[in-house]
Amino acid sequence: MQQDVILVIDLGSEENPKIAREIRALGVYSEIHPHDITAKELSQIPNIRGIILNGGKNRVVNGVEIDASDDLYNAGVPVLAVDHKAKSGECISAWPVDDAEREAVLSSFVFDKCSSAKTWNTRNFIDDQVERIRKQVGDGKVLLALSGGVDSSVVAALLIKAIGDRLTCVHVNHGLLRKGEPEEVVSVFRDEFKANLIYVDAIDRFLSKLEGVYDPEEKRGIIGEEFIRVFEEEARKLDGIDYLAQGTIYPDIIESGTKTSETIKSHHNSGGLPDDLNFELVEPLYMLFKDEVRAVGSALGLPDSMVYRQPFPGPGLGVRCIGAITRERLEAVRESDAILREEFKNAGLEGKVWQYFTVVPDVKSTGIKNNKRSFDWPVIIRAVNTVDAMTATVEELDWALIGKITDRITHEVDGVNRVLIDVTPKPTGTIEWE
Ligand code: XMP
Repeated sequence: MQQDVILVIDLGSEENPKIAREIRALGVYSEIHPHDITAKELSQIPNIRGIILNGGKNRVVNGVEIDASDDLYNAGVPVLAVDHKAKSGECISAWPVDDAEREAVLSSFVFDKCSSAKTWNTRNFIDDQVERIRKQVGDGKVLLALSGGVDSSVVAALLIKAIGDRLTCVHVNHGLLRKGEPEEVVSVFRDEFKANLIYVDAIDRFLSKLEGVYDPEEKRGIIGEEFIRVFEEEARKLDGIDYLAQGTIYPDIIESGTKTSETIKSHHNSGGLPDDLNFELVEPLYMLFKDEVRAVGSALGLPDSMVYRQPFPGPGLGVRCIGAITRERLEAVRESDAILREEFKNAGLEGKVWQYFTVVPDVKSTGIKNNKRSFDWPVIIRAVNTVDAMTATVEELDWALIGKITDRITHEVDGVNRVLIDVTPKPTGTIEWE
């Protein structure tokens, strides 16, 4: 079935995502689009029930006040203009501040004016996207870089449902993944989902490029660049690929800047692939918020370990093995991280603490291990809570738990003789060490 949609048109209000979420909370799907959306683009969105023109302080772009395109007025559906003089339709000067009043305004527009049906739910989203993907791709073939993170995993599951083995997934193991991760990607996607999955063991290649590189930015640059090169080589071996799927989600779009906001950082898109690999993008999650992506992933049958996992940086364990990466120290990061995760899970902290991991600096100290003098690395534990990752507080851990983790790490991880705890909030520390 098709879901009714209310469009929120971006005329410079920073509240657009909030409005879209509020409409979805009423049970009606909502999407945000730029002010200059064309009639053709509108025609590709099925079941538009109403349009909200949402004006705000970023309305003037490059010295010019932007306006809604005439195609929006000609779409034949009710229009509600907020903080914006409309050519036709209903106008209000601003959104009420009071939550109940806001809801009343939205509800009256969405249901009374637009007669929208309450059809927004995960199942219907999946059905709609399957239909849209089939329409966009036709009988073409799609390529996806499947990292095993939440977003790319959900895209893979959705595309497999829509087009089956016309999706090719490439999983690049750069050697900087957590313990068990590459194996999980293979077992979930190749064995359970029967995906057409290419597994690339690029560990030696990445580690040799990173050898002796101390600078964090240089490390990140090498990892990002090498990833694109490996993916590009795999893409060239394949025939007849027209589309590239990406796990872009709504926060990525906001951070990359909309037509009315400045760019904060560019999101990792196909930018970086050479021009002759000229793929059209398929981005079925681009209107979803993270919690919605997780709900879709669960509904598609992905395991909780993939859907509810904590954030993991693109450069992986590479930014937790401080300074120049060596295989031995990288193993110490991977093994200590696995112990930490296991003990947090046993203590019921999984899903409660926002992010936790270990860091191994390039420093050695004296200690005693197996009744002998040791000269080994320390492992640093970092466990933080945050809402938006811009600031973070430190999780206060129980001493008995710390004792258990310390005992396991110092006995089970080679080359480690001490455990330290990072008690620094952000700021002044960032969450990651590099
Ligand atoms: P910082 O260290 O800046 O991290 O306080 C904030 C959050 O972002 C994650 N992070 C990254 N995620 N690519 C990513 O996808 C990256 O390069 C990257 N660096 C940091 C970090 O794990 C934390 O959750």
